[in-house]
Amino acid sequence: MNDLLQPATLGGISVRNRFVRSATHAGMASPEGEPSDAYVEIYRELARGGVGLIISGFAYVEKRGKAIAGMLGADDDALIPSLQRMAQGAHDEGGRIVLQIAHCGALGRFDTGFPRMGPSAIQDRVTGAMPVEMTPDDIARVVGAFGQAARRAKEAGFDGVQIHSAHGYLASQFLSPYSNRRTDDYGGPIENRARFLFGVYEEIRRQVGRDWPVLVKINCSDFDSVGLNEDDSLWVCRRLSQMGMNAIELSGGSPAAISKGPSRFHIDRPEREGYFQDQARRFKPQLSCPLILVGGLRSPEVIERLFREGAADFFSLCRPLISEPALIRRWESGDRSPARCQSCGKCFGSAAKTGRLRCMTFAEAVE
Ligand SMILES: Cc1cc2nc3c(=O)[nH]c(=O)nc-3n(C[C@H](O)[C@H](O)[C@H](O)COP(=O)(O)O)c2cc1C
Repeated sequence: MNDLLQPATLGGISVRNRFVRSATHAGMASPEGEPSDAYVEIYRELARGGVGLIISGFAYVEKRGKAIAGMLGADDDALIPSLQRMAQGAHDEGGRIVLQIAHCGALGRFDTGFPRMGPSAIQDRVTGAMPVEMTPDDIARVVGAFGQAARRAKEAGFDGVQIHSAHGYLASQFLSPYSNRRTDDYGGPIENRARFLFGVYEEIRRQVGRDWPVLVKINCSDFDSVGLNEDDSLWVCRRLSQMGMNAIELSGGSPAAISKGPSRFHIDRPEREGYFQDQARRFKPQLSCPLILVGGLRSPEVIERLFREGAADFFSLCRPLISEPALIRRWESGDRSPARCQSCGKCFGSAAKTGRLRCMTFAEAVE
């Protein structure tokens, strides 16, 4: 455990340990995408709680990319001061923070006034909605919007950005042969399906330079037999690391396959922890950038073993840090019992019910 608690460098970011708080939508932003004071406080609290790097909840790069009410925005320069407050809040407490930027494409479930769009006009298996196929102009506009969002994050003082290319959102839709049936340069073999993500990455680099940290969260597989498979994901990750990506966070699944989704339920024993570890073990030796593993990590023993065995370089937790924002401090102080979170999933939707992202299971967390 002590090795995990030593300072390290994560893709150019100096962090105080190898624990990451994975991106967590809090549902606490205004209709314009501005975080509430309580949202900013979440990042202060997490930084105080000792986690090495915080990845923010996903922020839309254009209004049409908004998935859900209360989502953070990064689509307008007017939001820079509020983004600055978020970054400053984490920094004041000695933490590091990266902004996750996203476009939800066909999964845009929130009424933005725009029709949903995706790589192809294929009915979404979750919403049942039929997106319109993106034109080359749409693609160019969205790629540009990612670049501008990253520039705003840099101006606001974040330590980097993370491109959300996982969980069935737009970049993930392009990677999937199910949702991407295009016959132009963006569809067909994986080299083409990855062109959107590579374009987003290069545009971000154009805006923020080669030295500022750019990370990506990506599915190791969509786990649904028709989507992105493991071999193609490995090819994309290898290529991204060659292109200069600073770190890759390996997740998996999409809302179409809940039991094999990114946030699996009932992680109540060590054998269920780290559900993407097999893929991480396969991917890591082939990457030239750090690998962050996410998904059901709950106990120090498991995480220590994964680190010792070289499965990943950094370890990302979401739900345990909703329940115990000071979990890393607790482990640091010598109390090494596992996170109390067992992934009941009730934190999903907690903000809609109570106005704040919170653990709904442990009494003291529900004020
Ligand atoms: C309430 C909630 C919000 C989430 N929001 C995001 C998000 O904005 N972006 C993202 O990439 N993943 C999001 N996730 C997925 C988590 O980052 C993580 O990949 C997943 O929950 C597995 O980690 P865990 O087992 O430690 O919870 C969210 C998960 C939860 C429970």
